Amino acid sequence: PRTRSYHFVVDYIDGSPDGFSKKMIAINGQTPGPLIEANEGDRVLVKVTNKLDVPTSLHFHGLYQSGTPCEDGVPGFSQCPIPPGASFTYEFKVADQYGTFWYHSHTGAQYTDGLYGPFVIHSVNDPWVRGRDFDLEQVLILNDNFHDYANDIVQALVSSEGYEGLFTAPSPQSGLINGQGVYECNKAASGSRCTQKEIPSLEVLAGKTYRLRIINTGSHSQFMFSIDQHELQVIAADGTPVQPHRTHRIPIHNGQRYDALVTFPEAESGNSFYARTLMKTGCIYSLDPNLKPTTFLRLTVSSGATTTFSDPEDRDWSDDEGTTCSDLDDSDLVPKISEDVTADVDPSSVKVFSSHFGGSLQASGASGSYGKFFVSSSGDPNQRKDDISYLAYINAPYLSKVNRGLNINASGVAAVTIEDGTEYADIVINNLDTTLDHPYHLHSVESHIIARGSGSLSYAEWKVASSTFSTKNPLRRDTFVIPRASYAVIRVRADGHAGVWPIHCHIAFHLSEGFMGAMIIHPGEISKMNIPSKVERLCRGTDPSFSEPARKR
Ligand code: C2O
Repeated sequence: PRTRSYHFVVDYIDGSPDGFSKKMIAINGQTPGPLIEANEGDRVLVKVTNKLDVPTSLHFHGLYQSGTPCEDGVPGFSQCPIPPGASFTYEFKVADQYGTFWYHSHTGAQYTDGLYGPFVIHSVNDPWVRGRDFDLEQVLILNDNFHDYANDIVQALVSSEGYEGLFTAPSPQSGLINGQGVYECNKAASGSRCTQKEIPSLEVLAGKTYRLRIINTGSHSQFMFSIDQHELQVIAADGTPVQPHRTHRIPIHNGQRYDALVTFPEAESGNSFYARTLMKTGCIYSLDPNLKPTTFLRLTVSSGATTTFSDPEDRDWSDDEGTTCSDLDDSDLVPKISEDVTADVDPSSVKVFSSHFGGSLQASGASGSYGKFFVSSSGDPNQRKDDISYLAYINAPYLSKVNRGLNINASGVAAVTIEDGTEYADIVINNLDTTLDHPYHLHSVESHIIARGSGSLSYAEWKVASSTFSTKNPLRRDTFVIPRASYAVIRVRADGHAGVWPIHCHIAFHLSEGFMGAMIIHPGEISKMNIPSKVERLCRGTDPSFSEPARKR
């Protein structure tokens, strides 16, 4: 095992991902940020230097922080935010997982403004082997792009005026692939700075099979990803390798990842094709009339020699007569490395989260409804120390000052406790919203999707239905869509995952408005853990690096 060290300097830049100039947040001057790459078993060190004039944080999406819950990067859950001018180093071991992940700020909607990047873990345990199953790898980051600064949008959404008079997640102005898109500058409001861009291109090699690592780092939009005239073979969902599954189009929501194989035969040399994402605009309440739902990336197939490329045909699968275009349905995916979760679950560890239109999340269980989790700014430490985790507690007073209005509303979030000794627990998630599908994300625990259905499932109904759950090698993934007016039952492995973990909708605007709950896993174990002194210093404001001057903007 090796140590992989990164230094991320977080600062504002003037960006123009689709040609339209706007204020963005970048890492070392770039957005998307640099690729973090490690082997399973490695230690990863990421020093974050905050040059913004607001607090920040960095979360490693999909990683188990087993034994290191304070490295999860969530203000209010696992640390206090990193103040302007300060540095904070995340340090953890990458264990028992590999595949395609990503990282992003967990403060407000900062990742919408650019603070995110890809994270790839290689492993000798990965059943998909370079040189045998594929030749080359390519990360494809799908994103939606908002011309307004996202934290301004969020501030408006939580105010009484709303954003452009509305209180719902806004429409993006364009889609991006690997940070690039095209906006028609003649549609831009006068006075704005916009430079017309062309469709970006990427050279791929003829005769090679690629492992695409497709990540939706977006903040609102679900995408349908495809490559014209090329079938895709899905081999992993989030960090889970799956049996190969052929498909034409892959629906992918905020926070999700798919690895897919695609081959460009020798005969295609000199041709070009479009990779495209189609934004599901039906779910966007107030659509920007200038938005082009399809984002293109031109793939030029080269033999390595100097080649001239034909223009790509604009030919989506739906235009191809005789092909029945198949869209991936993730319930057809079967994990390649089989894992059953047939063990009996103690009914007392069954927790029910229900979300309503507008995003408030409520929790209940065997003993009825649960209360809110965080105390407000006046919270007394000693009073709270017994019944909730110290981790969560120490942040509360600081949080309410620094992070007010963002990420967590002052009254706190719904929380459930999975008691010590519980190996598996069932989390029922009811999406009671009849208008929107939500991409739910659970931090750090291993999440197995064992049931889905329309309507909702109460605690009492769980007892009846539990014998019918699919517990033999179900799909396990960290981010899954729960369609409107439906539920899912997630069997989580609590064993080895002590900590305070968020469960939230990954639509950044919903998250920022407080669509987030907490799972307190094994509180007894947590209370025995040492809070890293760097977190203590951060929360008490005694870190020497705090005196570095912050850059105003
Ligand atoms: Cu991608 Cu709570 O995070």
